[in-house]
Amino acid sequence: MKKTMITGVQPTGNFTLGNYIGAIKNFVSLQEQHDSFIFIADLHGLTTYQEPKKINKIILDLAAIYLACGVDPKHTKFFVQSSVNEHSVLGFLVAFQCRVGELSRMTQYKSKKAKAGNSVDLGLFIYPTLMAADILLYDAEVVPVGSDQKQHIEITRDLGERLNKRYGEIFKLPEYYIPENGHRIMDLQNPTEKMSKSAPLDDKGTIFVLDDVKTTRKKIMSAVTDSDNKVKYDEKNKPGISNLITILATLRDCSIKEVEKEFGDCNYGVFKEKVADEVEKFLLNFQAKYQKYRESEELITILHEGAKAAEARAQKKLDFIKEKMGIAI
Ligand code: AMP
Ligand code: TRP
Repeated sequence: MKKTMITGVQPTGNFTLGNYIGAIKNFVSLQEQHDSFIFIADLHGLTTYQEPKKINKIILDLAAIYLACGVDPKHTKFFVQSSVNEHSVLGFLVAFQCRVGELSRMTQYKSKKAKAGNSVDLGLFIYPTLMAADILLYDAEVVPVGSDQKQHIEITRDLGERLNKRYGEIFKLPEYYIPENGHRIMDLQNPTEKMSKSAPLDDKGTIFVLDDVKTTRKKIMSAVTDSDNKVKYDEKNKPGISNLITILATLRDCSIKEVEKEFGDCNYGVFKEKVADEVEKFLLNFQAKYQKYRESEELITILHEGAKAAEARAQKKLDFIKEKMGIAI
């Protein structure tokens, strides 16, 4: 029997090349071998206030982005999280079993709290319990994510295990699937920081998948590197050039070593041009597909059908969980 695979992305900010390389690319290449689910995590997006019109647009943009990245509704149940109510119900049941201390230790929470000061919404705090529910609800065993989500997968395992101990075997436990290369694409201007989709659109260090290719070329050509002028992977001492090597290797589906071999003797200017060419090739192909999906009525139909299929599976599972907990009357 095929293993279940799931991943999600929040409808906040603007989708970056890091999002593609870190999570969706892997999902797409594995979707046929698994019983696959992918969703737009709109409930997670609401853990901080979003303007209704804006989030609605981002949800549809993201849906077209996923399809243009290669998510195939023939093989994958593709939906919006809030269309399947079972996520919220299980989110509550999981949250009740989670300790305050466990959530306080989440690095993502700690860094967001440091920025927000004392006015942190409860949603931001309990966010990992909803994410755990998303995964446990489908007994997903494979979860392709970037490395910033590792801790959230670990807490999912802890919570799943706890519920299994209390109520008998209810859930399968997930493994994260973090790619060897590209699990953390860095900001081009500040290569010790992650490329983030909350950066402003004119940010020079972030490649957005909907950027026009002239802009991305400029961003790549002005990427921060070092004075060594050797195309060699060394994350610690040459984070900028290592990041560009990773981008090229992942987009070409080849190894870091192969890139080093091919470009070892090139100067940085020539190498950057090659990286820009590869990114441009990817973006032009991607953007043509994106426009087609974004303008098509098929987009909503795909999301509705995906939600129906996911719901059928989620309902069954939730009934089973309630029975195990003694609350199915
Ligand atoms: P987010 O942008 O935080 O909603 O993340 C969506 C998915 O993309 C998650 O699996 C992240 O781990 C992944 N991701 C986000 N930014 C990057 C990045 N710079 N490099 C690699 N993966 C990333
Ligand atoms: N928290 C994830 C992120 O910010 C998005 C997400 C929500 C997710 N639920 C999930 C990812 C379940 C994988 C599985 O990137």
